[in-house]
Amino acid sequence: MTEFKNIKNIPKYIFEKGSISSLSDIVKEFDGFVVYFIDKFFQDNDVKKKIPARRNDLIQFIDTADEPKTSLIDKLCDQVKANGENCTCVVGLGGGSVLYIAKAVSNMLTNKGKAEDYQGWDLVENPGVYKIGIPTLSGTGSEASRTCVLTNVEKGIKLGMNSDYSMFDQLILDPDLTKTVPRDQYFYTGMDTYLHCMESLNGSYRNVVIDALSQKAIELCREVFLSDDMMSEANREKMMIASYFGGCAAGNVGVVHPLSAGLSIALGYHHGIANCLVMNILEEYYPYEYVEFKDMMEKQKVSLPTGLCSKLDQKIYEKLYSSSIIHEKPLTNALGAEFKTILTKEKMISLFKRI
Ligand SMILES: [Fe+2]
Repeated sequence: MTEFKNIKNIPKYIFEKGSISSLSDIVKEFDGFVVYFIDKFFQDNDVKKKIPARRNDLIQFIDTADEPKTSLIDKLCDQVKANGENCTCVVGLGGGSVLYIAKAVSNMLTNKGKAEDYQGWDLVENPGVYKIGIPTLSGTGSEASRTCVLTNVEKGIKLGMNSDYSMFDQLILDPDLTKTVPRDQYFYTGMDTYLHCMESLNGSYRNVVIDALSQKAIELCREVFLSDDMMSEANREKMMIASYFGGCAAGNVGVVHPLSAGLSIALGYHHGIANCLVMNILEEYYPYEYVEFKDMMEKQKVSLPTGLCSKLDQKIYEKLYSSSIIHEKPLTNALGAEFKTILTKEKMISLFKRI
């Protein structure tokens, strides 16, 4: 087995305003039926009219109140199989959660067992059915990454199916689709790219390709979030590409993501806002970026709730700590092998109390 990393890129993408209209030509090529996973937000929206669904195709609207669970993937997969045996294409139209669902269901249509069997690294054995991703939010980078993050409630873990087979075969990047995103959500999700990339550039595990992509993504984020209107047409285009580069970079994260995962597991906060809540108290670890983050929030008139974790039950603090400290690789990347002596339990709980 070679020790060299063999990197896969997204084979095809269209990046253009209005390009969702190209979907009908793309899906025409498939003989079997197509399954569409669409964020519920678009159920009564003009975007729905652009879906070229044919008679046997299946459309599933996804409620993204909760982030995707392994049990949901198994359920959706059963529904697709009940529609027929020849599903030849899966389309995901939505934010990170919907894109992850589309990737995971596509993989599970061609691999035996349950979704939870494939949480980890390179466990997916067979290529899934053809995957088309159409992001409607920019920032997680899920459109470009080789993972689909799922929560396994029974086991209490949040882990992706990390595999080359978890990458989309085709992307349609249409900046018109992010026009209707609520401003706060646009900011929180967009910051995910900024944070991934700055954590990667501040870490010790480095690589020239990852650094180059991360630097460009951060430069675009700065142009977007330090401008007068982060949601102008030009900025929505830039943000879509920043997210794509951030997803391609997929560098190693640092202190923000582990604590953010703790907030998601212990208190159920969504990834984007959880990241921002954490960044808001990490001036000690990322002094330069902390100031920039605050400037961006002020410039875009975005605020964050406070006092969320100041008075919690001791058991919750324990859970916040345990579900953050397990992320050893990012914490080592940021703080070194002795990270537990730097970020002690006491220290981490004192940080959480400031959220
Ligand atoms: Fe993230």
